[in-house]
Amino acid sequence: MSSESSAPTGITAEAGAHADAHPLNVHLPTDKELVLKVIPMPGDCNANGDIFGGWVMAQVDLAGSVLPARYANGRMATVAVNQFVFKQPVRVGDILSFFSSVSRIGTTSVTVQVEVYAERFRSQGRYIKVTEASLTYVAIDDSGRPRKIVRD
Ligand SMILES: CC(C)(COP(=O)(O)OP(=O)(O)OC[C@H]1O[C@@H](n2cnc3c(N)ncnc32)[C@H](O)[C@@H]1OP(=O)(O)O)[C@@H](O)C(=O)NCCC(=O)NCCS
Repeated sequence: MSSESSAPTGITAEAGAHADAHPLNVHLPTDKELVLKVIPMPGDCNANGDIFGGWVMAQVDLAGSVLPARYANGRMATVAVNQFVFKQPVRVGDILSFFSSVSRIGTTSVTVQVEVYAERFRSQGRYIKVTEASLTYVAIDDSGRPRKIVRD
């Protein structure tokens, strides 16, 4: 059993009912929106038995696109992964929660922050931040060229 899954919990009332003093357990962000929840499966593992980083990146790319889609109102593409940090391993059976916020709206692009929190197997309601990232998405036209974002 992992150290964090056996530890007492300290999550806040708004994030969960548990009380936990484990240093890895954190509060869920209140300034970001929950955009995706997913549970990795054994087929998503690397040779170490942890979840493959590329699988996590793909999920973050999908989750990160949710808020920009509201501005793009049509086709868009990921132009850049500005930052990507794997803070803790992701494991089979974790319940992953992806939170996102918009950090910049440009002429044709939208940049977001994405944070990923894991509830370990048998430790639901206790959250560990496993990944944080910044990505930029560009609205594109039918020819794949950058298209201006129309803001209301
Ligand atoms: C996305 C794409 C259409 C942008 O075309 P481009 O000619 O590079 O566009 P521009 O240089 O005019 O930049 C467009 C926007 O992207 C931003 N951008 C471009 N390169 C960037 C980078 N490296 N990092 C962050 N933002 C970037 C620009 O700042 C600009 O934003 P703004 O208009 O809000 O200021 C083109 O690069 C593309 O098709 N890339 C492939 C996309 C793709 O396949 N994604 C999936 C990868 S798996």
